[in-house]
Amino acid sequence: MALLKIARMGHPVLRTRAREVEDPTDPSVRALVRSMIETMYDAPGVGLAAPQVHVARRVIVFRVPEARQEPGEPEAPDGPLALVNPTFEPLEATLAEGLEGCLSIPEIRGLVPRYHRIAYYGTTPDGRRIEREATGFHARVVQHEIDHLDGVLFLDRMADFRSLAFESELHHLTEGGDEGETASDDDEGRADERS
Ligand code: NI
Repeated sequence: MALLKIARMGHPVLRTRAREVEDPTDPSVRALVRSMIETMYDAPGVGLAAPQVHVARRVIVFRVPEARQEPGEPEAPDGPLALVNPTFEPLEATLAEGLEGCLSIPEIRGLVPRYHRIAYYGTTPDGRRIEREATGFHARVVQHEIDHLDGVLFLDRMADFRSLAFESELHHLTEGGDEGETASDDDEGRADERS
């Protein structure tokens, strides 16, 4: 295992469509995933896509901290889940806004609309086919990581750049005023919630 260098915004690998992996059980995929998981925890973050470590292949790793799991959501992985060739589809048209950060765009956060409820699919490096439903934060992380495989960054998804903020200034965004779901105290500056 090894800690991998994380590509930052401006590196072309983050703007390239990553290629499908022909054999998800190939030992090289397993080795990549192990290092990606180590790198994700070290960062620390909740998700990482292979292009973020300069590998333009369709591989993601992520986790959903227990505090971020929706009540009654049995399928959220608290431990890391690795998916090869992941895809998703929205299960409802409803979009929800939430703060996102990205390990490739350090110290910056912004409100991003994402599908609230999705189904996602993929294969694990041990060859298991995964089909799950996800809501809320879980659904958001999956959409953020799959975007990375298509060269899309969360900034591209923002509807209003006025919510763009440095993590150290986030208390201005969340205090007083708008008590909506989009900027709850829950969302404030949790440094490990970048992906
Ligand atoms: Ni990211």
